[in-house]
Amino acid sequence: MKKVLYTLLFLLPFSVSASSGVKLESADIDLSDSASLERGAQHYVTYCLGCHSAKHIRYKRIAIDLKLDETEILKNVAPLGAGIYDQMHSAMNGHDAEKWFGTTPPDLSLIARSRGADWLYTYLKGFYSDPGKPTGVNNAVFQDVAMPNVFWQKQGTQEAVTKNVDGHDVISELKLVEPGQLSPQEFDKMINDLVNFLVYVGEPVQLERQQMGKYVLFFILMFIVLGYLLKKEYWKDVH
Ligand code: HEC
Repeated sequence: MKKVLYTLLFLLPFSVSASSGVKLESADIDLSDSASLERGAQHYVTYCLGCHSAKHIRYKRIAIDLKLDETEILKNVAPLGAGIYDQMHSAMNGHDAEKWFGTTPPDLSLIARSRGADWLYTYLKGFYSDPGKPTGVNNAVFQDVAMPNVFWQKQGTQEAVTKNVDGHDVISELKLVEPGQLSPQEFDKMINDLVNFLVYVGEPVQLERQQMGKYVLFFILMFIVLGYLLKKEYWKDVH
């Protein structure tokens, strides 16, 4: 028991120091917006798949869920050479990743479930200039992250504004000091589409659920009727 307490005490300062003053921003998640999900899938392949796989999903599944033609998905979304039954595999292997980043970029299939949409949204918008880091950036909600800011051209450069709270510098906000190719509104929309897609990947079944509900009711009804008929059949000889 004592050991457990000590371990907890030991962990406490870390969890406190890892928090920053930046509030999570709300992502606008809409799994029925197929156009947003398709754009998100395109962004994922363009900006993330180089390092992160999303092995729980196949291009075929995306085509079905978004009601897109298979050829369309292969042309507009999947990387060159990918097949419709392929999972979203990353081209990077773990060995190279270790060498370059000191860690392997995790598979992102379930990231929306573990981190939540708002965290992802804030994280992807949360890179700021930090010349002390190997990647030149740090992140407001994931301190010392090994991931570079893949959106630096689109987003521009952000700097952290800090304030002193109880003797510690905490980040209060991020300021855009050099504009990127996109306006902040356009950039927010892009990140929102991407997060929307990641939420969908975490649970593609959500799209089907409504549909499934009807089938389930239908089956329950069928079994009730069957059960009733069976009962009649069994009891026929007894009466
Ligand atoms: C150049 C390689 C690279 C690219 C491209 C890249 N990442 Fe990463 N990413 C990493 C690495 C490396 C880590 C691990 C960071 C760590 O643990 O310090 C990471 C971590 C993450 C995490 C945090 C995972 C966790 O531990 O909770 C998320 C979320 C993430 N990436 C999302 C994305 C998304 C979305 C994209 C596309 C927009 C993307 N990444 C593009 C290299 C990359």
